Amino acid sequence: MFLLGTEEIMNSEWWKNAVIYQVYPKSFNDSNNDGYGDINGIIEKLPYIKSLGVDAIWLNPLYVSPQVDNGYDIADYRAVDPRFGTNEDLYRLIDEAHKLDLKIIMDLVVNGTSDQHRWFKESCKSKDNYFSDFYIWKDAKADGSEPNNWGSNFSGSAWEWNDQRQQYYLHYYAKEQPDLNWENPRVREAVFDLMRFWKAKGVDGWRMDIITSISKNQEFPDNPAKHNEKYVVANQDNGPRMHEFIHDINQEVLAPFDMMSVGEAPASKSIDARQLVDPKRQELDMVFTFQHMHIDRQENGVNGRWDTQPADIVLLKSILSDWQNAMRDHGWNALYFENHDRARTPSRWGNDQEYRYESATAFATVLHCLQGTPFIYQGEEIGMTNPDFKLDDYEDVELRTNYRQYVEEQQTLSPEAFLKAAHQISRDNARTPMQWDDTLNAGFSESESWFKINERYPEINVDKDQKAQKSVSNYYRDLIKLRHNNLILRDGTYELKNAADPDVFAYERCLGEQKWTVVVNLSDKRLKRAKYYTPNLDSKVVISNYHKTKASDSDEILEPWEAIVFEDQI
Ligand code: GLC
Repeated sequence: MFLLGTEEIMNSEWWKNAVIYQVYPKSFNDSNNDGYGDINGIIEKLPYIKSLGVDAIWLNPLYVSPQVDNGYDIADYRAVDPRFGTNEDLYRLIDEAHKLDLKIIMDLVVNGTSDQHRWFKESCKSKDNYFSDFYIWKDAKADGSEPNNWGSNFSGSAWEWNDQRQQYYLHYYAKEQPDLNWENPRVREAVFDLMRFWKAKGVDGWRMDIITSISKNQEFPDNPAKHNEKYVVANQDNGPRMHEFIHDINQEVLAPFDMMSVGEAPASKSIDARQLVDPKRQELDMVFTFQHMHIDRQENGVNGRWDTQPADIVLLKSILSDWQNAMRDHGWNALYFENHDRARTPSRWGNDQEYRYESATAFATVLHCLQGTPFIYQGEEIGMTNPDFKLDDYEDVELRTNYRQYVEEQQTLSPEAFLKAAHQISRDNARTPMQWDDTLNAGFSESESWFKINERYPEINVDKDQKAQKSVSNYYRDLIKLRHNNLILRDGTYELKNAADPDVFAYERCLGEQKWTVVVNLSDKRLKRAKYYTPNLDSKVVISNYHKTKASDSDEILEPWEAIVFEDQI
């Protein structure tokens, strides 16, 4: 067992004080004007990222990939895709970031590879070569059908027939993304090796894609069908050897090389996560939960994520509070509202018209004052919004395959209803190019970009935001400074107030003699503030998105989407 001393643990837990900025390279900044964002484009913008005050950058996959799932289908784990530059460019990015004291977190995508990966091509060739058991192969049933009814997240069966090998292989996502067979020690060794390769290049940690899916039930039982569907997506996470495999990654690579880890854990409840991030178990540092992202999804819908509903704020409060309480003294939270798989918060849950600045900063306040490590997704810090796309404008493989299933085959959703849901929750909402200024293509590229630019870029862009009186990015800078300078946000206790209130998210953090009360109006309404907080004579305002400076200043009204944090002595 690999163990660190107390002092080393303190030093190695830099991520507990950190705020992490996520870069989606394809859409961040195009330096060579080919329409794709690239590594040199990221290097150009390092001073901007640094100016936000963040501590680390998470890079979405940059490896060689046919881009069926925007880089989550990897054909070579050690080589940079020429679209983004060269390996030397990436090594330079790591160096330049380090010079600015910014750490680099890479994406580890090892539930599966691309079908163009050499491992898979070799695996297809025979049942007895070195790579034969790198993937999950099964014979057809006697009638030629799939080995079981498992469904893919991107619609249809999770099994694809391979003519060359005369067997089916498993793919939880696109058919071009075959799942790796983690039962095979050679697969595990190959993964440890590629992680060590990137460690040697200076990478500081890993965001681990769907890491809770890597262990499969080796009995491959049918999933119970709810609505008579032919293929059922269920039980993909928390397989029998999941903890063991993750512990192995920890012991082989993470602990010895002091690398940070945050695992994507789609089905984890706080109780599962506690095991994954309990320091004693030596698995992961943090996990990304999906629970709070489902507050606008109908629970018993037949159209998966496309059966949407208005955001349930009471539910949001209860889920986030559950995670705050469950992790306290057990592990550490990863905090996020946006990433490359999520829509833009002001459009999704806020008001992206008259209260865009206010609702963007309101949600930011809710998140950044919790215990855990906040992640900011590119563009979130300027209050970017969902684009007003037509169906044809969308690119995402999930959206296209789901449209085929729910609208064309199943006919349980009309095209209009699907589009309405896409406007609210599609993953593509976050993937439009970063809006730097109001020049051609939002300053992202001088050529036509790989993906349509959001039509609101003349109004919403970095340049304009930084100069605005109501500046989302400057508010983020203030929030980040608060985290760095006040232990109460890292270590303070957490208590939710007014749990059943559907409009206001209010909570207290306490440390020693200090109490901070976070009061955030998540509605368009003007409300009486006294219901949530009453100031004392010496109460102070720590931060306010309405630029209030005195606790007793206003006549006790909470303005629409107002966020305000008070400090009191106890
Ligand atoms: C993760 C990624 C997502 C990708 C999926 C399959 O959920 O965040 O973008 O489609 O894994 O690799």
